[in-house]
Amino acid sequence: MTALMTWNSKLDVGVAGIDQQHRKLVDILNRLNDAMQTGRGADVLGPVLDDLIKYTASHFAFEEGLMRKSAYPGYAAHKKEHDDLVKTAVDLQAKFKSGETRLSVDVLRFLRNWLTTHIQGTDRTLGVFCIEKKVA
Ligand SMILES: [Fe+2]
Ligand SMILES: [Fe+2]
Repeated sequence: MTALMTWNSKLDVGVAGIDQQHRKLVDILNRLNDAMQTGRGADVLGPVLDDLIKYTASHFAFEEGLMRKSAYPGYAAHKKEHDDLVKTAVDLQAKFKSGETRLSVDVLRFLRNWLTTHIQGTDRTLGVFCIEKKVA
């Protein structure tokens, strides 16, 4: 089974807590992909999707806490990216639970691409700031 997303050093933002959480997000996303690729039913996919959403919410709360603690100037824009993704993911979860939609390769790719772009841009900028200000 090919992993949907493989960790590489370009994904490191240099703040240990954030990097560790990102690795865990990648793991859960790969678990969801494996379950989908092996044709697992909603009974398996549903809980993994729930895990992904729950862990994402706690990770976002962690970053937003760091931003507030450090009076980060990019807080509002960064938080909006988080909020938009949460909304998309929760909508997906509701549709999945009602049987209105199934998980697809496209959805998994969307999540992978979102995470990659967000980590390498928005989170990297936050990481640089935290290192400079010695927050984290
Ligand atoms: Fe973020
Ligand atoms: Fe992040």
